[in-house]
Amino acid sequence: MKIRTRKSALVTGGSGFIGSHLCTRLVDSDCDVLCLDNLYSGEKDNIAHLLDSPYFEFVRHDVTFPFYAEVDEIYNLACPASPIHYQRDPVQTTKTSVHGAINMLGLAKRTGAKILQASTSEVYGDPEIHPQTENYWGNVNPIGIRSCYDEGKRCAETLFMDYHRQHEVKTKIVRIFNTYGPRMHPNDGRVISNFMVQALQNKDITIYGDGSQTRSFCYVDDLVDALISMMATDDSVTGPINLGNPSEITIAEVAKMIVAITQSKSNISYVDIPLDDPKRRKPDIATAQKMLGWSPSLELENGLKMTAEYFKERI
Ligand SMILES: NC(=O)c1ccc[n+]([C@@H]2O[C@H](COP(=O)([O-])OP(=O)(O)OC[C@H]3O[C@@H](n4cnc5c(N)ncnc54)[C@H](O)[C@@H]3O)[C@@H](O)[C@H]2O)c1
Repeated sequence: MKIRTRKSALVTGGSGFIGSHLCTRLVDSDCDVLCLDNLYSGEKDNIAHLLDSPYFEFVRHDVTFPFYAEVDEIYNLACPASPIHYQRDPVQTTKTSVHGAINMLGLAKRTGAKILQASTSEVYGDPEIHPQTENYWGNVNPIGIRSCYDEGKRCAETLFMDYHRQHEVKTKIVRIFNTYGPRMHPNDGRVISNFMVQALQNKDITIYGDGSQTRSFCYVDDLVDALISMMATDDSVTGPINLGNPSEITIAEVAKMIVAITQSKSNISYVDIPLDDPKRRKPDIATAQKMLGWSPSLELENGLKMTAEYFKERI
């Protein structure tokens, strides 16, 4: 039997936006990385810089089918994350979260690997409390067009906790809030990518409503720090733990900041607000601060500058 000396990790969804940053960081920290992705919403370009590394392997595979590999850690990120992507094939989205969780938890059970689930703030649905704490059970519509994502992720959380209680699998759940940075998909319909693309093309920046609604954005490097810290916690730490940036900013301010950073000639135009657009979205990260000693450190303006550099190259 081969004796492994380096730590090994399987990253599902590893060629997506967050997954590619996580793979890079793990390879840089002397970890053997197996990146598993079916390229549904991810791209090979996101991991092109890793393909020559002897410590990185890409496997094209759909997590809804079983997979076997001997690894120490599993980061389960596979799932399209933007509404445009996850609503394109909603049945597949639910299967990815639910069958994907079952397959990866089965693998963790057989191999004894630790496993981390990338859950989402969307498990809180249209929240009635602000900011959201982990003990809030959420307000989710089970039959709406967002349910394939929200309910799929909620069911995955259930499976993670049951595999932990019933089979003593070393599970960890993080609930990720809005994250941004280089390698976001330019057409994913999210605020920052939309504004970046419009600004760099000097097109009107479209704000839904009057722009007074607030959001909070976490830079991807900060998030990756937290994912790695969570994986390193004691086996008794299962989460769920909120991960995100609690500093709120209005959408109008984000638009102005992006115009300034990209030195764009874009005007700002206002269109009707969609019915389900939440007024506020903000994580309570007290648990992450206490359990992981983590808080996001990068200022939005600096993160947006780095993101703009990426979009300039892509567009
Ligand atoms: N980006 C955010 O703001 C955010 C917020 C909350 C939660 N998350 C979660 O983080 C994870 C990564 O999100 P992201 O923003 O990098 O999205 P992404 O779409 O860029 O990455 C997801 C990756 O999963 C892959 N994938 C999808 N279905 C698959 C399947 N059946 N089998 C194998 N691979 C599959 C895609 O090809 C893609 O590479 C997701 O689970 C998402 O739900 C992200």
